[in-house]
Amino acid sequence: MRKLAAGNWKMNGTSSALCEAEAIGEVANGARAEVLICPPTTLLSRLSALLSESPVATGGQDCHAAASGAHTGDISADMLRDAGARYVILGHSERRTDHGETDEAVCAKVTAAWNARLAAIVCVGETGEERDAGNTLAVVTGQLKGSIPEGASAETLVVAYEPVWAIGTGRVPTTEQIGEVHDALRASLAERFGAEVADGIRLLYGGSVKGANAAEIFAVSNVDGALVGGASLKAADFGPIIQALD
Ligand code: G3P
Repeated sequence: MRKLAAGNWKMNGTSSALCEAEAIGEVANGARAEVLICPPTTLLSRLSALLSESPVATGGQDCHAAASGAHTGDISADMLRDAGARYVILGHSERRTDHGETDEAVCAKVTAAWNARLAAIVCVGETGEERDAGNTLAVVTGQLKGSIPEGASAETLVVAYEPVWAIGTGRVPTTEQIGEVHDALRASLAERFGAEVADGIRLLYGGSVKGANAAEIFAVSNVDGALVGGASLKAADFGPIIQALD
């Protein structure tokens, strides 16, 4: 399985960020891992064109469940694909919180992504309260079941475990805590799609990943890469994370 270093730029970046994408492309040239940047939609087309000769893939950060229609301000999976995307992040906790996205809504978006030939990166993760209450595994496996339609494959699905309390906070779970969740996610995927399919689906960890902690996190069982926020904005920060997957 090829590991994946995915950058989620969130609502950051205007034209001036394109030079960082080029610099990330240079790092990716010598890397063993697959590298992905999911910029804001306004940059997607330009970034895809800029990186077309590099090994870096591009992706969206969300899509609508409908193929087209009267949905002011939204973006369809087909539009992302047309702008050069190969992936789309779905069910990020910021979407679940800011836009009230349910597992059911995320599941419908995954179907839309697959219909447009995009691979879906489905995010799951517990809040600090849910962890403190001992509900982490029930929460993440429940989100996983509810957010993924039938028919997943290693080519069409990536799962990202992002504990809400670790996102942008500098707080990172222990390697034991990450391993426990990733093992449970793999087992849950195997139960549903069979061991062979489950073993090929990449499980990313996300939440305050930095160059300084990447190698330790990547050594955990069933961690196949990272979904990186803040540290993916600059090549100087994202580069060491990509190289830690070598
Ligand atoms: O999707 C990536 C993310 O939520 C993690 O963000 O800034 O903690 O790396 P960050």
